[in-house]
Amino acid sequence: MSLLAVRNATVAFGGVLAVNDVSLQVDRGEIVGLVGPNGAGKSTLFGAIAGAVTLRDGSIELDGARLSGCPPHRIARMGVARTFQKVRLFGSMSVEENVMVAAGEHFGGRAARAATAAALETVHYAGDARTPVAGLPLSDRKRVEIARALAAGPQLLLLDEMMNGLTVDETNALLASIKTLPQAGVTVMLVEHVLHVVRSLCDRLVVLHHGRLIAEGKPADVLTRDEVVAAWLGGAAEQGRA
Ligand SMILES: Nc1ncnc2c1ncn2[C@@H]1O[C@H](COP(=O)(O)OP(=O)(O)OP(=O)(O)O)[C@@H](O)[C@H]1O
Ligand SMILES: [Mg+2]
Repeated sequence: MSLLAVRNATVAFGGVLAVNDVSLQVDRGEIVGLVGPNGAGKSTLFGAIAGAVTLRDGSIELDGARLSGCPPHRIARMGVARTFQKVRLFGSMSVEENVMVAAGEHFGGRAARAATAAALETVHYAGDARTPVAGLPLSDRKRVEIARALAAGPQLLLLDEMMNGLTVDETNALLASIKTLPQAGVTVMLVEHVLHVVRSLCDRLVVLHHGRLIAEGKPADVLTRDEVVAAWLGGAAEQGRA
């Protein structure tokens, strides 16, 4: 059985079908890229999986249990964690405290401390965990953001544009960390505009355009299809960051 099963999901904002009859599955241990131009519905679909956005039609299941219709905190407990397009951290708090706050929502005292240490290790945070996050480089703040999501012990992690604003070296370093997540038991779905990241990181791609799924499959196959080139690669994808 797939870990995640999205069936005929539709999300409407007023008259706009931000997600339009999308069906997809993600298997345990996969890294699946959700791509497409701006406004395609990628973040909205993440919101629907995490319970922040209500489906008008369709259903979403994790490991056979229905997520859609459940409140976000229940879905988090069922094993879904996410990061947001904009880094959301408590600037004056330390790296460790930021992750502890997230871990504390799911575990008590000692277990929260262990989950915090494990999450920081999983993202390869190499600095001093007592440093306030406000002074950290963006790449480390992103690591802390991912560690916060991991602190809940998710089965499925949704990463929304984690590479935004990073240099090429920072991107490659973070990419290497994300690549190890399946070994830590975390299945990953990520939204990404940087083409080489998508290519090197994702086992499979799902392409959205105007809320609809227009292509899915292996990156090498999907990225050469005419409809994907026309919808995404011709414009919104970031090229040239080898
Ligand atoms: N809360 C909202 N209320 C109304 N419309 C919304 C809301 N959130 C998103 N939309 C609309 O839904 C559509 C899909 O937006 P979404 O943010 O999911 O796209 P996206 O693929 O994540 O784009 P981007 O690459 O720019 O982040 C857009 O037309 C957007 O304007
Ligand atoms: Mg988005």
